[in-house]
Amino acid sequence: MKAVRLHEPVGIPGLRYEDAPDPVPAIGDVLVKVHASGITPTELDWPLWTDQLGHKRDYIVPAHEFSGEVVALAWGTAGLSVGQEVFGLINGYRDGAAAEYIAVEARDVAPKPKTLDHVAAAAIPQAGLTSWQALFDHGHLEAGQTVLILGAGGALGLVAVQLAHPVGANVIGAGRSGVRSHVLEMAADRFVDLEQDRWWDSVGQVDLVYDIIGGDVAARAMSTLKPGGAFVSVVLPPSELRADIRFVNFVREPGRAYLKEIANLVDTGKLRVEVGAVYPLSETQKAFTDQSNRTVRGKVIGARSSCSPDPHRRRFSCIEWVGRIRAPEAWHCARPGQTIELKTPARRPPKPADSAALRTRHHADTRELARLRRTRPRPTDESRAARLQLPAHRQPRRAAAGCACRHAVQLGPQPCERV
Ligand SMILES: NC(=O)c1ccc[n+]([C@@H]2O[C@H](COP(=O)([O-])OP(=O)(O)OC[C@H]3O[C@@H](n4cnc5c(N)ncnc54)[C@H](OP(=O)(O)O)[C@@H]3O)[C@@H](O)[C@H]2O)c1
Repeated sequence: MKAVRLHEPVGIPGLRYEDAPDPVPAIGDVLVKVHASGITPTELDWPLWTDQLGHKRDYIVPAHEFSGEVVALAWGTAGLSVGQEVFGLINGYRDGAAAEYIAVEARDVAPKPKTLDHVAAAAIPQAGLTSWQALFDHGHLEAGQTVLILGAGGALGLVAVQLAHPVGANVIGAGRSGVRSHVLEMAADRFVDLEQDRWWDSVGQVDLVYDIIGGDVAARAMSTLKPGGAFVSVVLPPSELRADIRFVNFVREPGRAYLKEIANLVDTGKLRVEVGAVYPLSETQKAFTDQSNRTVRGKVIGARSSCSPDPHRRRFSCIEWVGRIRAPEAWHCARPGQTIELKTPARRPPKPADSAALRTRHHADTRELARLRRTRPRPTDESRAARLQLPAHRQPRRAAAGCACRHAVQLGPQPCERV
């Protein structure tokens, strides 16, 4: 397949659009045909050059949020089906979604919001999960509290404003002056211009600071917190922390339950996302460059182009992975363009529509069989001997009168004897 890979931690110039091995879904994974993937400006600097066990990775594939279609299910997956349209966030220590196919843990994938196409859906997971967890899981934001969102005009910030408002919080969005109207339009109660002198004096006292910027801005925001308040950061934390506040610095967790909630908010019109630009997968490097130069506002998405004249691309666009991969032995042959031979027996035949009637008939048959067994005549010794066609000397004979042997009938030439 084609993928965008970074072989050395050298940032944007190192990104290469190239042939890459087809992903092989492991236990619990689904294989997804990626239609669109979202990039985060700083992600190439994230410390992801080892896997979770500390083993060095030879390259990384960026873009961990995606929208696409399930094309195969590996062992141990439930709740998803082949052909389903899904979106999700891949664990950062695995290959990302700047590729034609990805293997991703099924639990990190959820049905795509019905009201969005793939491009818009790919813009949600990273911002949705990070801001949800920052505000509610770590910030414990409640109705009546005040939250200051630093960087409210960016991808994470705009989602945070929309999540915080409906719970009844007083939302203060902070950013550069250019995003003022936009942040207020997204239902922030107030906007603080971070380019103004001593902006922190105009904030007042807040219960929660959600920091998406870090550095000097974060350090200044510390003074706006009430004693006992919470400072939740998703970037490098300020060097000095107040002793009387709760401080949390975290990395977002993927998860289907969160994604379902977020998809529901989107489908009910409570959450909007903005796509700034869409690039073909082959131009992912340009997408990163434009985003870091700030020539694009809003989320940047890399999207799969449809069948291309390139024969390799066409093979992948037109030939899909096959069905559910049940047996571990089958995994190694799970490649696009191949037919997977299932090692386990084929599916059970579908149940007939009127299965209830069939069950009733089956029970009636069983009862009838039991009745016949009860009422049929018991075989006599003679009938049994006749059926077995025993020779005369082996014909059964009655025990002699007064015989005390345990058996009423003995087989054999000798008459029974007293014991
Ligand atoms: N820990 C986690 O789990 C996690 C997850 C996702 C993202 N992140 C991090 O979160 C950060 C934001 O991500 P994002 O996708 O929301 O990026 P983004 O779309 O670029 O948003 C960042 C926003 O902050 C503003 N900003 C940055 N520096 C500023 C400053 N000094 N003064 C005023 N405004 C400033 C930007 O304005 P301008 O565009 O005008 O500069 C922009 O509006 C990134 O550093 C990313 O690495 C962390």
